[in-house]
Amino acid sequence: MLPTDVIAGNPQKNRDDFYATIIDSVGDGIIVIASSGLITLCNPAAEEITGFSSKLAQGAEFDKLFALETTLLEIVSKTIRTGITISDHENVVVRSTGRVTPVAVTCYPLVLGSGEHIGAILTLKDITYIRELEAAVRQSDRLATLGTLAAGLAHEVKNPLGGIKGAAQLMEREFEPGSEMLDYTRVMIRETDRIDLIIRELLELASPRGLKLAPVNLHKVLGDILLLQRQAVADREIVFSKYFDPSIPEIMADEEMLTRLFLNLIRNAIDAMSDNGRLTVSSRVLADYRMAKNERHSRMVAIEVSDDGPGIPQEDLENIWTPFFSTKSGGTGLGLTICHKIVSEHRGMIKAESDPGHGTKFTVLLPLVQ
Ligand SMILES: Nc1ncnc2c1ncn2[C@@H]1O[C@H](COP(=O)(O)OP(=O)(O)OP(=O)(O)O)[C@@H](O)[C@H]1O
Ligand SMILES: [Mg+2]
Repeated sequence: MLPTDVIAGNPQKNRDDFYATIIDSVGDGIIVIASSGLITLCNPAAEEITGFSSKLAQGAEFDKLFALETTLLEIVSKTIRTGITISDHENVVVRSTGRVTPVAVTCYPLVLGSGEHIGAILTLKDITYIRELEAAVRQSDRLATLGTLAAGLAHEVKNPLGGIKGAAQLMEREFEPGSEMLDYTRVMIRETDRIDLIIRELLELASPRGLKLAPVNLHKVLGDILLLQRQAVADREIVFSKYFDPSIPEIMADEEMLTRLFLNLIRNAIDAMSDNGRLTVSSRVLADYRMAKNERHSRMVAIEVSDDGPGIPQEDLENIWTPFFSTKSGGTGLGLTICHKIVSEHRGMIKAESDPGHGTKFTVLLPLVQ
């Protein structure tokens, strides 16, 4: 039923405006293709997904404009030929800018009241966020399995390790000061302490500690870490920059855990950079970040830690979250696994993007309301 003011005046014109407004307001991409193969309509969401302006698309031949998207060509030509509706949920569209957007596609026949088929309506639903969430869930599952395994191992190692340390401490008392054997014994004690630390971290990873939630001023946490780290590497000429969005309120979070999270990310960046590198920490509010359907919170805060170090090779990006993955001689490889856990416990998301040779950016998304 159309509102009366729409049908008043020139009914045809207002009706056209009304329908055009509806189509433009739909969040999914809509492209209408005539049986001749010419595009007759392309709404703003379709412009966004494909990267083609509607001015360019309208009147263009669909087959030419989307020549690289063979699946789309097949779907559209089949619908035009047969009048059947076709859906495909595993598709991608390469934007004219080169960016790849995962989309769910449905193509409906365009049918007149008389039953005559005059073309096809192609709808494109951007499912980037769904894909990202799926990847995050897969990653969490993998880490949970690995965490359980590692914790089992840690339990087994803990007792014999205690025995070795106890024996080494007894030996320490037996040797004369200055004797070589005393030095060796002390190395044993120091190294068993190191293993003990790794084991404690592993056990903590596998057992949810429960968050101590309280209002946290993110900028204070980040500012304090940056201040301390700047002092720690005062002998290097690293430039620290921060861009904080002052409108970000306090968030409900576990301050100790968040400190650990950002300290790990900032330490990693410092480890990766050259002596005159630049480390940037920024914060901003993501207004409409769609987590999952039915998710209570939609407002997220994004904190980015970026460096201009050597970056992470593409083949390592998947593995950096795995316990014990480390490319450093003294690293345990638990830092990012712990970061991942802390972010998950805060119901957020963490992702790493890297441009090998140019740097790395870690983005942490945390809900503004817990
Ligand atoms: N900013 C970065 N730039 C380049 N590589 C990075 C960066 N952050 C992490 N990595 C890579 O990811 C690996 C895993 O990081 P993670 O923090 O888990 O362990 P680690 O730093 O090696 O050891 P630990 O943090 O336990 O001392 C690192 O060894 C490094 O190869
Ligand atoms: Mg680390």
